[in-house]
Amino acid sequence: METTQSGDLFDKCHNQEGMFLDVRSDNNYYVQPILEGPLGTRMLFNNKPMIVWSINDYLGLSEHPKPRKVAHEILEKYGTSYPMGARLMSGLTKYHENFEAKLADFCNKESSILFNYGYLGVMGTITSLVGKNDTVIIDHDAHACIVDGAKLAANKRSQFRVFKHNNMEHLEQILKSTRARSNGGILIVTDGVYGMSGELAPLPEICALKEKYNARLLVDDAHGIGIMGKTGRGVGEHFGLQDKVDLYFSTFAKCFAGIGGFVAGDSAVIEHIKWNARPVIFAKNLPLIYTETMSTTLDVMLQEPERRDKLWTIAKQLQKRLVEEGFDIGSTGSPITPVHMLTGDLDKTKEFIKTMREDHNIFCSGVMYPVVPPGVLLLRLVPTCKHTMEEVEQTVEALIATRKKVLKL
Ligand SMILES: Cc1ncc(COP(=O)(O)O)c(C=O)c1O
Repeated sequence: METTQSGDLFDKCHNQEGMFLDVRSDNNYYVQPILEGPLGTRMLFNNKPMIVWSINDYLGLSEHPKPRKVAHEILEKYGTSYPMGARLMSGLTKYHENFEAKLADFCNKESSILFNYGYLGVMGTITSLVGKNDTVIIDHDAHACIVDGAKLAANKRSQFRVFKHNNMEHLEQILKSTRARSNGGILIVTDGVYGMSGELAPLPEICALKEKYNARLLVDDAHGIGIMGKTGRGVGEHFGLQDKVDLYFSTFAKCFAGIGGFVAGDSAVIEHIKWNARPVIFAKNLPLIYTETMSTTLDVMLQEPERRDKLWTIAKQLQKRLVEEGFDIGSTGSPITPVHMLTGDLDKTKEFIKTMREDHNIFCSGVMYPVVPPGVLLLRLVPTCKHTMEEVEQTVEALIATRKKVLKL
């Protein structure tokens, strides 16, 4: 049989096409760096001890003895895989149901459902609710899982619209035009805390608009849960508007130092998601080793509020000192601390990151081209309750010295 030689699907793999081309070749230095040693504020990078500002373990719970003890007990009794199967078949246990009830209670909602990844949870929530004639409206800077969920939902002949980041006039314009042409349902989806900039979604305005236009609101509070609000119940609590958030979502991948996620809301809505979210129906349910450690982690979060207080003390000091020294930290409203820098080009960006690591033993994640323009560097510092004031000062001094050496400022 004759074959046609052109158009091998894998050509792009050999030609190195795709994302992160400018930094891919740097041997795990700028992207996919390998940190070693126990998780914490001091880890090894290329065998050198570093002060680390890149771990989303905000409350230092990754090393807490209580969830660890529970993990050992579950491991002994059930191993790592129990239960086997998807929720609808053989993947549900009383443990899952108890934890879901506990999460719902924590969020002041009637009910909740677990997902085995936050990413899948957001996608599953959006796609199970948004159908033909409905519209999903998202913030321009929304997390990739929100974008992907909205795009997938659009395949079901729903509309997908994007408003300029935190721009309420634009959101209102879109809501108005949507209402003018359709009487379908509307879902607004935003991050609670934006993971790169630390900015908060303007919930009071969003809630007012969603009521005016009879829309529903899903808030992905991956970086807000455990941190924002008086008792760590997230951005809804922070703004005193949790009852207006129709669906409150979070992953366990940050503050809970685990894996998985959940969405909480009215019982009827959660029930609908349970029976319609494809990542729930067609994927293995979260193993008990996670439900039980995450459940204990939630207890610890509530029992030890001093962790949140300490996190905020560290974050505020870091942000105050950076501003005092003339660094641009944007408009963060959370512990996430971005440092925006104009480096001029990608080489200078890399030199900046390298100098911090090699001269000062400080490891921060650098967000660089193609996520930001080539002459821009966004250093993303994530404070935790385990950092010390000395580490804050050492880091600020290192940034000053590096700015002088690399950028001549
Ligand atoms: C805002 C936001 N949503 C969802 C996710 C995805 O969560 P997970 O890592 O549990 O899939 C992340 C993680 O990066 C996130 O920052």
